Amino acid sequence: MRPRVIALPGNDALAGSIATRVGGELGGATVRPFPDGESYVRIDDRVEDRDVVLVCTLDRPNEKAVPLRLLAATARDLGARHVGLVAPYLAYMRQDRRFAPGEGLTSSYFARLLSETVDWLVTVDPHLHRHPSLEMMYAIPARTLHAAPVVAAWLRAHVPDATLIGPDAESVQWVTAIGELAGVPSRVLEKVRRGPRDVTVSLPTGVPLHGRTPVLIDDIVSTGSTMIAAIGELRRAGAAAPVCVAVHAVFAGDAAERLAAAGAARVVTCNTIPHPSNGIDVGKLVADGVAAVLESQPFAR
Ligand code: R5P
Repeated sequence: MRPRVIALPGNDALAGSIATRVGGELGGATVRPFPDGESYVRIDDRVEDRDVVLVCTLDRPNEKAVPLRLLAATARDLGARHVGLVAPYLAYMRQDRRFAPGEGLTSSYFARLLSETVDWLVTVDPHLHRHPSLEMMYAIPARTLHAAPVVAAWLRAHVPDATLIGPDAESVQWVTAIGELAGVPSRVLEKVRRGPRDVTVSLPTGVPLHGRTPVLIDDIVSTGSTMIAAIGELRRAGAAAPVCVAVHAVFAGDAAERLAAAGAARVVTCNTIPHPSNGIDVGKLVADGVAAVLESQPFAR
């Protein structure tokens, strides 16, 4: 039986790429709120005895998690063999320790919630910092895909004279990998975050800025404060206006406008979250990753 690929609202393009790559069939689903705020979910095509692939990127996770869980339960109830989740952006990865007494370890709790919802997970560059791998957090097979090769290819084509700059220690994993693949130098700044919008960064000496195009690389732009602080520091050091590249375009509130106003030469993101800044396509990377999971069936019990 061919896998049934079902997009949650807003995920149709990626679901189409996945269905084509895995030889699956697209399935329809209806997900909408009832007038009282509860969720109505319906699967419109047969899923009995099939592998079901739900496609739902998880920015704005609070409004998506309940419908996703209800839809996965519906698929199981209708006889699906296994239910997997493709979430190109995986939320709740940054609260990975108790920064203040009494705080919840929400990265672990969200992992538990998803592990109870689906049989397997595929995602792109989750924000792994203090957790060394997704497998340590998730009780289901969880495949991490890396956008570095696609980002590096974009840089080679569009900014061949780049100097890559990571805004903080957490970005070193992405900046180093992309720099090596693109064949350009990379350095990492030092960041102090005192609150969501209260961020300062400092530039170490010896960063080759002159005669090259500075490219800030980060996994996530959320409030934009990290990128904005880094742009300010680079401009104070006499660098040209930097190109800002991020994997996940979370862009909370007016972050995109604030980033443009801060002096970014250009803002480019991967399409793990649909956004006007998307310029780097991870569709093939994700579709290939899902095909590999379905072929190896690591979730079969
Ligand atoms: C944290 O270390 C991440 O890698 C990003 O730097 C951070 O999430 C960006 O957040 P914001 O845009 O709110 O500064």
